Amino acid sequence: MTRSPNFFDTEPWVGGVIGLGYVGIPLLVELNKSGLEVVGYDLSRDRIEILNSGSSPVEDVTDDQIKDMLESGAIFTQRTEDLKNVDVIFICVPSPLSRDHEPDLSYIRDAVDTVIEVIRPGMAISLESTSYPGTTEEIVLPALESLGLVLDSDVWVAFSPERVSPGGSLSMSRIPKIVGGVSAESTEVVTAIYRRFIEEVHPVSSSSVAEMAKLLENTYRSINIGLMNEMAQVAHELDIDIWEVIDAAATKPFGFEVFYPGPGVGGHCIPLDPQFLAWSARKADCSARFIDLADQINAEMPVYVADRVIEALDCNGGSLAGTKILGVGIAYKPNISDCRESASVAVLEELERRGAEVFVLDPVVGRASIERIGFKSVQLDDDFSSYSIAVVLTDHDVFDLEQIAAIAPVVFDTRGAYRRSGLTCNNVVTL
Ligand SMILES: NC(=O)c1ccc[n+]([C@@H]2O[C@H](COP(=O)([O-])OP(=O)(O)OC[C@H]3O[C@@H](n4cnc5c(N)ncnc54)[C@H](O)[C@@H]3O)[C@@H](O)[C@H]2O)c1
Repeated sequence: MTRSPNFFDTEPWVGGVIGLGYVGIPLLVELNKSGLEVVGYDLSRDRIEILNSGSSPVEDVTDDQIKDMLESGAIFTQRTEDLKNVDVIFICVPSPLSRDHEPDLSYIRDAVDTVIEVIRPGMAISLESTSYPGTTEEIVLPALESLGLVLDSDVWVAFSPERVSPGGSLSMSRIPKIVGGVSAESTEVVTAIYRRFIEEVHPVSSSSVAEMAKLLENTYRSINIGLMNEMAQVAHELDIDIWEVIDAAATKPFGFEVFYPGPGVGGHCIPLDPQFLAWSARKADCSARFIDLADQINAEMPVYVADRVIEALDCNGGSLAGTKILGVGIAYKPNISDCRESASVAVLEELERRGAEVFVLDPVVGRASIERIGFKSVQLDDDFSSYSIAVVLTDHDVFDLEQIAAIAPVVFDTRGAYRRSGLTCNNVVTL
């Protein structure tokens, strides 16, 4: 035994985070806030320079928090050797899907290669990147054992899914954390590690349980959003207001959790995570029909929204040729600048495909990113007199909905934002 497993309960260990994005940076902040020394490692030179200049590249962390961390000795680095003194490594790198919807574990494998360069007996490793059940046991553990390290003696290994909601109100330390080790002792040690900076930790019996729990949470969201997206279409045909229906159903104090329809699903999690589970199911020769159906309904929403925009405009023959459309919000969810897999982008592309000239208003995302995605960026004080419609796709808090309704002859609201804000504008049509 190189180090007592109890070491992590009380000693001032050093935490290292590999991958400084929406997950890794808030994690570093929480570790640092609890008084632990931290090292943040990322391959991106830009990212490291931004952090070392005292700026935060993610919305959930302020520049002041980064400056405080730097003042307390935090290291942001691209140099692998700076990880050599850490006691615990948290892996927070991307885990996308390949073009053919297979898990792309290349980032996780690369991060594990980095761990291998710096690991020494007595360290604990926690994988936080979302992946299919079995990843920690199949990818992380064998790589460490190939160095001759002995589980529960030289090293402890676990999976702990990240549940942070960028732009949400709950800080990471207040979101309960699931921990599943590749051994009972790993679960115990890594649970103690998280208890140093997370209020509630829920240990489970294996890393596969923790991996599947994360996928189940987001599959549940995807399926329920898919259900609401389908119900929105049904209600429209029945000439019933789906938003009023949902509000009414939500008065039931049990058995009904509120989800809303929208332009589809987006981000790094909801469209992807169920696919990890579907992939695992296929590998085990069983089907995951709910996942496939929700995926299909959600993926079809941008086309449905484009149809409804045409209906709202009462276009002759359904063509949008020559129509100027203002897309309001392009991020995948409110109050963040992340546009990965954004359904708003898919809707705007569909409108363009049908001939519309699309312009985007999104001060949270900013002109440079909007133009990188391929759209023209506008500001609220521009001249909108030649526009036919504004389509609210992402309801950032900064939007002045009343002003948007005043500048466009028609507003098509895919998010129920006007209803929620209590505004009654006669030219607003809701999904
Ligand atoms: N964003 C979310 O809301 C969210 C929520 C829960 C879980 N997750 C999961 O957490 C993981 C990270 O997501 P994210 O949104 O923080 O990603 P991100 O893209 O915001 O950040 C990932 C960072 O990792 C860096 N990176 C990539 N490969 C690396 C390597 N080999 N070594 C060092 N750095 C490397 C990138 O440069 C980037 O800065 C993913 O598995 C994701 O599914 C994300």
